[in-house]
Amino acid sequence: NKLSLQQNSVMALTSFPKEKIKILLLEGVHPAAVEMFRDAGYTQIETTTGALSEKELLQKINNVHILGIRSKTQLTAAAIKQADKLIATGCFCIGVNQVSMSDAIENGIAVFNSPFSNTRSVAELVIANCIMLLRRIPEKSKAVLAGQWLKDSAGCFEVRGKTLGIIGYGHIGSQVSVLAEALGMKVIFYDVEPKLSLGNAKACKSINDLLKLSDIVTLHVPGTSATRNMVNESFLRKMKKDSVLINLSRGEVMDEQAIVNAITEKHLAGLAADVFIDEPQQKGDLFQSPLQHLNNVLLTPHIGGSTLEAQENIGTDVAGKIIRYLETGNSMGSVSVPALNLPLQQSAHRILHIHHNVPGVLSEINTIMSKHKANILGQYLQTNNAIGYVAVDIDKKASAGLIADLKNSKETIRVRGVY
Ligand code: NAI
Repeated sequence: NKLSLQQNSVMALTSFPKEKIKILLLEGVHPAAVEMFRDAGYTQIETTTGALSEKELLQKINNVHILGIRSKTQLTAAAIKQADKLIATGCFCIGVNQVSMSDAIENGIAVFNSPFSNTRSVAELVIANCIMLLRRIPEKSKAVLAGQWLKDSAGCFEVRGKTLGIIGYGHIGSQVSVLAEALGMKVIFYDVEPKLSLGNAKACKSINDLLKLSDIVTLHVPGTSATRNMVNESFLRKMKKDSVLINLSRGEVMDEQAIVNAITEKHLAGLAADVFIDEPQQKGDLFQSPLQHLNNVLLTPHIGGSTLEAQENIGTDVAGKIIRYLETGNSMGSVSVPALNLPLQQSAHRILHIHHNVPGVLSEINTIMSKHKANILGQYLQTNNAIGYVAVDIDKKASAGLIADLKNSKETIRVRGVY
């Protein structure tokens, strides 16, 4: 996940003083992220192991250019209002609910997260679950723990030669596909989007086709209105008798009571679930679900992606995105600033401009450029509903006058030069 040599050569051109950039990383962000910032030449890095309350954050944030948080620190509207130097915020986790996103967008603060760094961790657990369920390990382990010796091969199978049906062939589903084939499984999948099959995996035309053939069905879809309650009574009835179900995607995808019925009636031979409709808020909280106390059921507390490797991947992924944004303006992966994948420029100067998305801003920028006799070599624009993000490459260094005119232009939110 290190930055490419090509990107490093651009960074060498970066004209802003890196030693003045203040980076505050909270909640024990992985050391790999700190190392990445240091390797890129940033020296003012403060780290804390815990989260900050809103009051503590308000006291610290006004000098900070880059803020790194995980899921506990809340970046509220008040904190964003106070953060007049904040260029970007890294959420060193999967979600971004802890950030007041409308305020981040309104203030042109680039928010980055790392939605796919734990893909492999989830995929490995799915494979483990396949083996555990087909060998009826949850049932046998529970018996041994209770002092009962269930030595018996009835209903226990190898995964080799079995058909694994993957619903949702995205990041995780496709990784599961590769690992499953390595174990000798036949892989079929269904996705709403056309997907390239990996290895010998075969696409199914419909979920029904997949359910008819699968010994194991594993769900890797997002939580949307289309996937809510996807696994209902009719879905379960279409699954093969004695097949098993794995859900490490989202709790709301399953009708839990329908699953209880399918297992109690011995239509399904087992279930592995890592996600639930009602999940406790915090580690240590009590958990209750109708899925508890069933036979051959493996329930885990939403830990599919929780590995130390995933934490490290998140660290380098988010730090890398922030460094690219700081030094080249490339905003790919930001959930607040529109996505610009900018080409590298060797003999140009780059100005980045974030503005309210109203008509006429681009022509105003161009008028200012021509007033300052800056020849435009390249111009790139992306917008979302609220803001526009434009990168302008010019043939001379931006003068203080040009930057001041851009800053004073009516719809401007932020302007900065990167090289
Ligand atoms: P992704 O976005 O890469 O893949 C999702 C796939 O599902 C896409 O290919 C999409 O086209 C497909 N899809 C969407 N609607 C569908 C439908 N109605 N039927 C069939 N396919 C459909 O997402 P990724 O990273 O593979 O994650 C999959 C799920 O796993 C998500 O729900 C995510 O929240 C969950 N997840 C769970 C974790 C855990 O700790 N248990 C950790 C990481 C992700």
